[in-house]
Amino acid sequence: MVIKIRENIYAVGARDPEVRIFHGYATPFGATYNAYLVYDDSSDKWILIDNVKAAFTEQFVTNIEEVIPVERIDYVIQNHIEPDHSGSCPVIFERIPNAPIYCTAGAQRGLKAYYQKDFNCQLVKLGDTLKTGKYTFHFIPAPMVHWPDSMLTYLEEEKILFSNDAFGQHICPDNAFYDDELGYERLMERASDYYANIVLPFGMQVQGLLKQAAPLEIELICPSHGVMLRKHIGDMVEAYGRWSRNEVQDDKVVIVYDSMWGSTAEMAEKIRADFESTGKKVSMHSLREEHYSSVMGDVLEAKFIFVGASTLNNNMMPTVAAFLTYMRGLKPKDRIGMAFGSYGWSGEAVKQAEDILSGLGWTILPQRRQLYRG
Ligand code: FEO
Repeated sequence: MVIKIRENIYAVGARDPEVRIFHGYATPFGATYNAYLVYDDSSDKWILIDNVKAAFTEQFVTNIEEVIPVERIDYVIQNHIEPDHSGSCPVIFERIPNAPIYCTAGAQRGLKAYYQKDFNCQLVKLGDTLKTGKYTFHFIPAPMVHWPDSMLTYLEEEKILFSNDAFGQHICPDNAFYDDELGYERLMERASDYYANIVLPFGMQVQGLLKQAAPLEIELICPSHGVMLRKHIGDMVEAYGRWSRNEVQDDKVVIVYDSMWGSTAEMAEKIRADFESTGKKVSMHSLREEHYSSVMGDVLEAKFIFVGASTLNNNMMPTVAAFLTYMRGLKPKDRIGMAFGSYGWSGEAVKQAEDILSGLGWTILPQRRQLYRG
């Protein structure tokens, strides 16, 4: 599917409505791998911005060729080289072997390592531009938003920011290509889930990026995942500011647990009642029902994170261990944690969970641990 964004600017990326796990992250609504094609009619130059996941190369090539033959592409801007944005490179560059790729030094190293091939990379840094005729592409490296090689590209004359992973959402709607078509609530729900699962460890780097982008006049943000932003740009930038500053809600509690015989689940209900009675808002997540990554959207703005772990063979249940391992990697900061759980005869899991919460540098409330109550 090709979407005409402006006269001579097209979205030509790939749609993946069936994907349900994206590098360990649940994507119940699918994903897109966006790429863009820009034509500078003053110089008769075509510019491709980003590639797509390897398995979608055929779809991508078909989309490009609804507009032009691949061989007409004069320049490629590769904002990021994670495989969802570079997997089609080997096929594309078979057909345009000499086309320059504008990318960061990190991207050059990655492309060579991944695809065992030398590409014609033109390395860029902050302040560098590509002038194609009437168009000026400004490069904005954004290391760790969310890989070391990442950058964004701003097309000055059209006031478009090609933001790659930043401001993305994992969703593949049939009839919505822009934020206002998706609706504000849905947009922010998907964007916060995405931020929590992809960008959360890199708050300082996000703040640096927001500072770099602040002077830009932006009418449209074209991310590499999800819908384009034209109506809610300010809302999204404001939310990224809040999330990157680790602003949490003092009255928000997340309880996440799994339970062998129902006793830990009962403890979770009791804790919920205790905290709701103090006026707090509690969201419950049973890891038997939900993927561990789907909890993170709530963790993003919650001050209190309570983890319920039954003991199984002297360990946490694997579902709880997976959640804690995952959350530890995403490094939410300055939370108040508590471990709780029921056990039949040994009960090590609560201490194990507490140690992980404590290792995040959080304030830890006294654990609640009890023998199975039938
Ligand atoms: Fe969408 Fe960092 O890849």
